[in-house]
Amino acid sequence: MELEWLLTISLSICLVLISAWTWRHKKGRFPPGPMPLPFFGNLLQLNLKDIPKSFLELSHKYGPVFTLYLGPRRVVVLCGLEALKEALVDHGEQFCGRGKVASVERTFKGFGIALANGERWKKLRHFSLVTLKNFGMGKCSIEERIQEEAQYLLEKFRKYEGLPFDPTFLLCCTTSNIICSIVFGKRFEYEDKTFISMLNLTNKIFLELSSPWAKLYDMYSGIMQYFPGGHNRLYNLLDELKAFIAERIKINQETLDPKNPRDFIDCFLIEMEKEKGNPSTEFTMNNLVFTALNLFTAGTDTISSTLKYALLLLMKYPEVEEKVHQEIDSVVGCNRVPAVKDRMNMPYTNAVIHETQRLIDIFPAGVPHKVTADTEFRGFLLPKDTNIITLLGSALHDPKYFSNPEIFNPAHFLDEEGHFKKNDAFMPFSSGKRACVGESIARMELFLYFTTILQSFSLKSSLAPKDIDVSPQLNGFLNIPPIFQLSLMPR
Ligand code: HEM
Repeated sequence: MELEWLLTISLSICLVLISAWTWRHKKGRFPPGPMPLPFFGNLLQLNLKDIPKSFLELSHKYGPVFTLYLGPRRVVVLCGLEALKEALVDHGEQFCGRGKVASVERTFKGFGIALANGERWKKLRHFSLVTLKNFGMGKCSIEERIQEEAQYLLEKFRKYEGLPFDPTFLLCCTTSNIICSIVFGKRFEYEDKTFISMLNLTNKIFLELSSPWAKLYDMYSGIMQYFPGGHNRLYNLLDELKAFIAERIKINQETLDPKNPRDFIDCFLIEMEKEKGNPSTEFTMNNLVFTALNLFTAGTDTISSTLKYALLLLMKYPEVEEKVHQEIDSVVGCNRVPAVKDRMNMPYTNAVIHETQRLIDIFPAGVPHKVTADTEFRGFLLPKDTNIITLLGSALHDPKYFSNPEIFNPAHFLDEEGHFKKNDAFMPFSSGKRACVGESIARMELFLYFTTILQSFSLKSSLAPKDIDVSPQLNGFLNIPPIFQLSLMPR
């Protein structure tokens, strides 16, 4: 025991000395920022319960581009549409690196599209985009799949016969089945035990990712990796989910017909076989397991959480629900299911979906980036590998672009005649080379699920609209919607 304490104290002293040394000898010309303390960095200046909000407050003092120390970790924060676009689009090549996310890095070890860098990332991104398109992303085939899956959802909803229930599980099942059809070539029954376990794991992973443990681990992984504690939960959950994915890949391998690829996994296995003799190939089992895991997790919770929030907001603003009903009735009617082509004739509904995504700001601080080379940016010099935080929420809530950014108001996306109005500051999917791979499928899902649910049901809450609290239950990596009950009344 004494030896352990001695080791911890020596390690901490070493870390303090190393961080002090790094600060004194830092290369580059960094943007301004608050004075850091050795070891703690600027932690004491942040509200750990709402770090993105603290970033925003600091940007008012230090400007849209500033330097911050999260513990011993130095990051440069980008705030507001102009700085974000200038970096992610105008300097796209330099800002497209994936920054360090220590809490998940010890599982992924740089494999899989979402955390990869360099040539590996380019190969996996290109392959993923092409394969998602081949399996129907942005096309009629995936539209039909969503329409069909939405009917299964309605069937489950009807079983509640207007009684209150928490929609989280069913929304996760239905949205997850879309990405499962593409990645695993099949949909799952909502009672399937393997499917339920995978969804539970995904849910817990996002909760852990947004927990204070993950935040601390991202700052102090150097020490924390050697100690027990809550930070190990995420590691274990990811390992469990990885085992499920590996099992599905095994099933594909055993039944693979190279002439008839059924899904994303088959296509990847075929590439692996083609590049078998190439020692530097990126078509490896590790990249397959982790890319499939990335797509499964990214394609499930993001969309179901957005839909959940959309339903909650409609209960809080019944006048908005009423207008959506009217638009659905006049454009789609009740004799056919909603289709993507309806979107251009439904500016109000489209605006409501955009406004939901804007207000809830699901990835408030984006996913960390890093610069891939020494980069001149706005008169500063950011050395290669500098970690970058893209504060997407600062654009989504920018009063320059949205008249009343903290209020839910679909008019933010409508012109005076009621036509849909685009807004450059709407960037929940980020922008540039690293922007969300699933944006078009996500947009299709949000529109089709939202309109299909509201075509069939009116929403009812047991609370008065003014008492409905829409604040997230957790904010961190993701803004996680609150738990609530709703009743669905047939229309
Ligand atoms: C409402 C739904 C969604 C939102 C708001 C969203 C948002 C985002 C954001 C902000 C990023 C980080 C971009 C960056 O690094 O700058 C991202 C990355 C990613 N998203 Fe999505 N996403 C959604 C749905 C999906 C879906 C359905 C899929 C799967 C088909 C998906 C797959 C991915 C992948 C693989 C990445 C990593 C891309 C890379 O590192 O190159 N996302 N998403």
